[in-house]
Amino acid sequence: MSGGDLLAGMQARGAETLAEGAVLLRGFAADEAPDLSRALESVLAATPFRHMLTPGGHRMSVAMSNCGRLGWVSDRRGYRYDERDPESHLPWPPMPDAFAALAARAAKAAGFPAFAPDCCLINRYHPGARLALHQDRDERDFAQPIVSVSLGLPATFLFGGLTRSEHPRRLRLEHGDVVVWGGAARLVFHGVAPLAQGEHPLTGSARINLTFRKAA
Ligand code: SIN
Ligand code: FE2
Repeated sequence: MSGGDLLAGMQARGAETLAEGAVLLRGFAADEAPDLSRALESVLAATPFRHMLTPGGHRMSVAMSNCGRLGWVSDRRGYRYDERDPESHLPWPPMPDAFAALAARAAKAAGFPAFAPDCCLINRYHPGARLALHQDRDERDFAQPIVSVSLGLPATFLFGGLTRSEHPRRLRLEHGDVVVWGGAARLVFHGVAPLAQGEHPLTGSARINLTFRKAA
């Protein structure tokens, strides 16, 4: 394949604008997914998935972990970022270079050239797991975007508006897709519909989502 053909192919997979400030980059992380998955395994060996409690005391159906200087946690006291894993009391594992590089590259492709995340929230969905509509608003600086990488089984992403009452669009996210939202879209309501059954060669019966944030 010539360089020109390669470029044309990448553009064809290209960027889909969802709203001002929000872009879906289809297949953006597909080629490096095996590398990401290997790096993820060593992160999870240090800080395994767990089901956190909501402030209301409900066990979340999505299992979570974190890497980077800060990790997002939820418990009876509320939502917050913490420098330590509340289970082990150790600092979260450092963010693998491959994670940080991909997040920066995706943010740049979406028009946010200076993104340097300090947190990667790792979400694992098994069939039936879901994430209710919410805003990401525990971060300090809303000028920084959110970069969300999908691996494994496909999911229906709910992409709403700036108010909870706005009916969300339903977008199918597949292995390797990356969604970036920032700017005017930074505080959009979003969520994930209950995951359907399936098997994926890389992740088995799961969908993994890496959500990169600049929290502090
Ligand atoms: C999130 O909002 O933290 C996760 C979104 C997703 O799993 O696609
Ligand atoms: Fe979110």
